[in-house]
Amino acid sequence: MKIAVIGTGYVGLVTATCLAESGNEVVGVDKDTAKIATLDSGKLPIYEPGLLELVQRNCREQRLSFSTDLASAVKAARLVFIAVGTPPAADGGADLGSLWAVADALVPHIGPGAVVIVKSTVPVGTNRKLMTRMSERAGRPIDVASNPEFLKEGAAVDDFMKPDRVVVGVYRPEVGDILRELYAPFLRTERPFLVVSPESAEMTKYVANAMLATKISFINEMANVCEKLGADINEVRRGIGHDQRIGFQFLFPGPGYGGSCFPKDVNALIHLATSLDVPVALMEAVDRVNERQKRILPNKIRAHFRDRLKGKCLGIWGLAFKPRTDDIREAPALTLIDEMLKEGVQLRVHDPEAIPNAKAIYGEKLTYCDRPYSALEGVDGLAIVTEWQEFRHPDFEVMRRLMREPNIFDGRNLYEPKAMKANGFTYYNIGRHAEM
Ligand SMILES: NC(=O)c1ccc[n+]([C@@H]2O[C@H](COP(=O)([O-])OP(=O)(O)OC[C@H]3O[C@@H](n4cnc5c(N)ncnc54)[C@H](O)[C@@H]3O)[C@@H](O)[C@H]2O)c1
Repeated sequence: MKIAVIGTGYVGLVTATCLAESGNEVVGVDKDTAKIATLDSGKLPIYEPGLLELVQRNCREQRLSFSTDLASAVKAARLVFIAVGTPPAADGGADLGSLWAVADALVPHIGPGAVVIVKSTVPVGTNRKLMTRMSERAGRPIDVASNPEFLKEGAAVDDFMKPDRVVVGVYRPEVGDILRELYAPFLRTERPFLVVSPESAEMTKYVANAMLATKISFINEMANVCEKLGADINEVRRGIGHDQRIGFQFLFPGPGYGGSCFPKDVNALIHLATSLDVPVALMEAVDRVNERQKRILPNKIRAHFRDRLKGKCLGIWGLAFKPRTDDIREAPALTLIDEMLKEGVQLRVHDPEAIPNAKAIYGEKLTYCDRPYSALEGVDGLAIVTEWQEFRHPDFEVMRRLMREPNIFDGRNLYEPKAMKANGFTYYNIGRHAEM
């Protein structure tokens, strides 16, 4: 099938590449000329494990190409995916400016019988508005389908290739059949292909993210209570996780959730429900708890140094909002950095992939370190914000030697508190023990 994917960000690029990998002829379109130039030169504008090899192979085999020319990419396409960003608007809702811009640009060029498929996360009712708008402007009916994306950055290729489920929202069953055929190669292990209404598909994406964000805020709140009571959230987590109604997934306490999805989607859902006069007290609390949680590391650091932070030097391990990505949008590390800079703290930061993105925001304000240990030289403490694998088993002796003061503020509970004490560290964590 000939396919155009509009928007080659984290979702669009993975979608375009995986659809090419299953034999389709795909053009990825973006208005960002630098991004397309990077892709054309055989490189990736983002870090996503396993993606580079797939992009290069599919380009070589001429199933995948990239362009800034929407008109010619779309002309021959049977399916046109929209995967542009839907960032938060000033009022907390979703900013659909890019979506409407793409829709309007598509109308003069889209072929008869082509289907427009919305992968971007959009408020309930958007697909209907899109169909009406495009059909009116084209003077003929245009098929629109909702196909929310559930991939996780850091495991995006795997998630796309072996999804837990595929959800499509369609107005006509025939459109559902086309998409079933498209996704068949990815669903060979009997994973479900769910055909629902576009409104249900749109809502499914918000509810999935709202549920996951709720789990994180819940365990973070419980961790904070544990810490004051002398209970260990890790032991409690094991105690509840074996209950099959609860399970273990997404119940790791930390420095608050970040990323381009959970914060914005929780807020968009609150905005949508509030506009309809439906109370969403739980979602409001999930967001508030998270905002507070993002301040937990800065607060522990302030408390340790009794608010005398000016002139101190802090190492930071991890900038990305989670491991295996370079994405720092809404990352808790940004809150920590902003708070520490305000206090006059010097920062030595390390992340295996996200340093270029941090540089784009902070420029000369931070010292960027290529290796984890160089971020420790002469520091008064280390804050761990992202649980990259390489941080799990460091050489504690080397660390202690490099650090001026052996203080660790671990936002990811990577180490055993008792062992850390024995190693001579003052070790703070989330919900395991109060400061030792
Ligand atoms: N990132 C994720 O993990 C994830 C997961 C599931 C769903 N989503 C949703 O998917 C959508 C895309 O997210 P993302 O993280 O890939 O965003 P992104 O910001 O990485 O990429 C969006 C791309 O769209 C391009 N774009 C914007 N306007 C355009 C236009 N008029 N014409 C052509 N290209 C245009 C941008 O240049 C950018 O490259 C969002 O709605 C998001 O909520 C994201």
